[in-house]
Amino acid sequence: MRALVTGVAGFVGSHTAEALLALGHDVRGVDVLTDYYDPALKKDNLRLLQDAGGIDFVQDDLLTTDLDRLLDGVDVVFHLAAQPGVRASWQTGFAVYADANVLATQRLLEATRQSAVQRLVYASSSSVYGRAASYPTDETTPTRPYSPYGVTKLAGEHLCTLYADNYGVPTVSLRYFTVFGPRQRPDMAMNRFIAAALEDRPIGIYGDGTQIRDFTYVGDVVAANLAAAFTPDVPPGTVVNVAGGGSITVNELVALLGTVVGRPVRTQLQPAQPGDVQRTGGTVDRAQQVLGWKPQVSVPEGLAAQVAWQRSRAV
Ligand SMILES: NC(=O)c1ccc[n+]([C@@H]2O[C@H](COP(=O)([O-])OP(=O)(O)OC[C@H]3O[C@@H](n4cnc5c(N)ncnc54)[C@H](O)[C@@H]3O)[C@@H](O)[C@H]2O)c1
Repeated sequence: MRALVTGVAGFVGSHTAEALLALGHDVRGVDVLTDYYDPALKKDNLRLLQDAGGIDFVQDDLLTTDLDRLLDGVDVVFHLAAQPGVRASWQTGFAVYADANVLATQRLLEATRQSAVQRLVYASSSSVYGRAASYPTDETTPTRPYSPYGVTKLAGEHLCTLYADNYGVPTVSLRYFTVFGPRQRPDMAMNRFIAAALEDRPIGIYGDGTQIRDFTYVGDVVAANLAAAFTPDVPPGTVVNVAGGGSITVNELVALLGTVVGRPVRTQLQPAQPGDVQRTGGTVDRAQQVLGWKPQVSVPEGLAAQVAWQRSRAV
């Protein structure tokens, strides 16, 4: 099969493309290489993909690129391109989020409608729930984002379901809960914590560290992406949580990090950030039922893998 991966140079995109190559699929990838974080890291990811067998890479913006050409001959689309991160989504930053997460998604769906694509997997987010009414949160819980970023991810998800409902576009939206593992974005908390611990600097924690997070290992997210793309008879417009299935406070994570790096780590509390929720946690019953997927990698295992990766880059 031929797959198109949008955001292919990013964290989840590069892992997804790598897995597709290993399975023998043809991979086309598109990425504009935004400078939200150092594009050199994205170029490193692209180099890994060339070493893994090579992809047909197009450096372009989904807002303007020729999508018909991009979708030509494509069977499945993994739409992972987005402007991620909660903190930069306020004030004038919002325009970037609206462009990348809403307008680009609508443009891709419109083009997919006219194509032979058999499945489009959309990277949604647990941020659509905001301060959820119940934990662990299932997919029937009302969505009420708590950040502008979450609003744009939910808008993208709604666009997927409405193109499914109106035109039968075969979308599956996966609501990822905080993804971690090798190649994690440098702006994400776990990456910053590990970097500080390895350099023996104090770890800056927003808030008091009692926030609870459901971390999902990137290998598990890739497995969910593949299941969403290749499981037969998944109804168009399906929405599924992709969560690690366990909950851990930020303070517990920091203590665990100390055991992985082999020395106690120091912390420095910083003001809580607007848009950050106190708790995330998702049920995975629907994912198991619809996609036959459940998470396999625990936080301690995944953390050790991410520490090893960051250590290898630090030398
Ligand atoms: N990482 C997480 O914890 C997490 C959690 C929930 C949802 N998600 C979603 O998963 C997806 C992947 O996230 P990630 O952490 O790998 O982010 P990432 O920033 O590493 O990857 C996204 C890529 O998309 C590219 N991109 C952005 N706008 C583009 C455009 N207009 N045209 C072409 N390329 C564009 C960027 O250059 C980047 O390389 C995103 O949709 C994100 O919202 C991620």
